[in-house]
Amino acid sequence: MSYNLTARIFHWVSALAVFGLFGVGLWMVDLTYYSPWYKTAPDWHRSIGVMLALLTILRLLWKALKGHPAIEGAKWEIAAAHFVHKLLYVLMFTLFVSGYLISTEDGRPIDVFNWFSIPAMGKLFEDQADISGVIHYYTALTLVSFAVLHAAAALKHHFINKDNTLRKMIGDSTR
Ligand code: HEM
Repeated sequence: MSYNLTARIFHWVSALAVFGLFGVGLWMVDLTYYSPWYKTAPDWHRSIGVMLALLTILRLLWKALKGHPAIEGAKWEIAAAHFVHKLLYVLMFTLFVSGYLISTEDGRPIDVFNWFSIPAMGKLFEDQADISGVIHYYTALTLVSFAVLHAAAALKHHFINKDNTLRKMIGDSTR
């Protein structure tokens, strides 16, 4: 049995957004005031981050409603996959919260593509933006490292074990 189409769309859109946000995040912190992207890149990074947060909440609700196919592999691989999947969600939420705390310390709301805005709670603790910035950076590095490990595991299942793991996520688990 494959992941259903909605779960597959959630997964691949999220994967693209995570890697894209990571690249943009690393690039935008070095932009100078004179770059045309100086304001636009952080605006997009924040907007896409908020959209990904909303998508991830919907994704978890969808998963709770519809369940997910069984994970294949040896006992330890199934346990490791469950652990890493949970960890990926926890790291994503840590990024959403720390990103929010960085952006809203000054009391300004997050404007999402001029569609709607997420209200600010202002400064909740001392050095909020700085502390949250460090957490955001190291969490992003950890998330991308585990996502690469997770992708490598999926490719190992596909090419070495030749099982249905990757096919389930691309909708072709006929073998
Ligand atoms: C930032 C990137 C990624 C994130 C955050 C991510 C996250 C996840 C999560 C949370 C699950 C569990 C789905 C569930 O809720 O049941 C999952 C499943 C899966 N992912 Fe990813 N993923 C990423 C990238 C990739 C890539 C690049 C590949 C393939 C090369 C991949 C292949 C798979 C496969 C095959 C499964 C199904 C595993 C199974 O059920 O046995 N993922 N992913």
